[in-house]
Amino acid sequence: MYLNSLKIHNFRNIPKLEEDFDPGFNIIVGGNAQGKTNLLEAIFILTSVRSFRGSRTVELLTKDSGEQTTASCVIQGRLKVGSVDKELKMSIDAQGKKISLNGKEVKKAEDIMSQFKAVVFTPDDLGIIKGGPEARRRYIDMVAFNIRPGHWRILKRYHTVLQHRNKLLKMGIHDRSQLEPWENQLADYGAQVIQGRILAIKELNPIVEAVFVRLAGSGSPKIDFFYNSTLLTQNSEDFEDAEKIKEFFKELLARRRKEELRRGTTLTGPHRDDLQLILGDKDMRDYGSQGQQRMLTLALKFGEVEAISNFWGEQPILLLDDISSELDFEKNSRLLSLVFESKPQVFLTTTDPNLTLPGQLGPHAKFEMEEGVLERIH
Ligand SMILES: Nc1ncnc2c1ncn2[C@@H]1O[C@H](COP(=O)(O)OP(=O)(O)O)[C@@H](O)[C@H]1O
Ligand SMILES: [Mg+2]
Repeated sequence: MYLNSLKIHNFRNIPKLEEDFDPGFNIIVGGNAQGKTNLLEAIFILTSVRSFRGSRTVELLTKDSGEQTTASCVIQGRLKVGSVDKELKMSIDAQGKKISLNGKEVKKAEDIMSQFKAVVFTPDDLGIIKGGPEARRRYIDMVAFNIRPGHWRILKRYHTVLQHRNKLLKMGIHDRSQLEPWENQLADYGAQVIQGRILAIKELNPIVEAVFVRLAGSGSPKIDFFYNSTLLTQNSEDFEDAEKIKEFFKELLARRRKEELRRGTTLTGPHRDDLQLILGDKDMRDYGSQGQQRMLTLALKFGEVEAISNFWGEQPILLLDDISSELDFEKNSRLLSLVFESKPQVFLTTTDPNLTLPGQLGPHAKFEMEEGVLERIH
């Protein structure tokens, strides 16, 4: 899939933009705070409905120097998915987002997310390794969603039921007959969430391992990762059967009810689970060097890209933010060759006007971003 052309009106510091892009490599050069990441964010929002910066909708509207916000913002793109042209338009105002596909309104974000895909690589991705478990759960859930689209819906339901149960616990409701219906549902959705994640990890493991070797060199220790559940032991056979997970989860909820009533919250379940990343035989989080952590982050993101391509049959758009500051020259070119191997459309931002691309990348389009204005330089 690729983005043919883009129009933007009043998105963050970009007042107006109208541009055609290369179906291959697009490089955006510019100093700090000029709007490079904003441009990638606009492309990501158009295809994925939400911001990768976790921003609230109103923050996307252009603010003037007096902090006054414009009433609305529009992002519009012509895309090609397979051999089909598609026109996406998103209007954003303080109330929220409105999306239309080929002139028809689309109500559910999921309908857009399953038809258009972009993967962003940002320096913040390091949080997958160094941050709390939430970042890792978000990562693995995204991959799981790309393998099994129902994952998103089930995860949402799980969280809704979880909130209900927690509310009852906080109110001090002891009555089993009141708690049990919620617990049954929690166990049911929870088991499916866990299965989706396990599936994603199985798919990712060999890909991430191979990419890591290519980035880090064959002498490097081996990467491994597994699902670390609050629910079960690390015995992966326990995860094979959804029915088994469900029964076990139900039992555990009943067994821990007293303690959870006291604490006013549900202590076990996929909302507390984690992904454990191992380098050699040590935890990457505590023992990996900065360089290894960066390479593993990239490998994890590539895993996501490949999982998408395998299951969707199309290449997602790749948004590579702030590349030169991330890796040294040799690793940069290894990374870029890897990126280009399956010929996706790439948008790469850099502050380095002399960033050298490996020869085999061929022709590409180059742009300059200055104070929110994008100009093609070749
Ligand atoms: N809602 C907004 N309205 C106007 N300007 C914004 C808004 N949000 C961010 N900006 C401006 O955008 C610039 C940062 O853009 P960004 O894309 O992050 O820069 P970079 O080129 O370094 O990636 C800053 O000058 C910031 O003030
Ligand atoms: Mg930036």
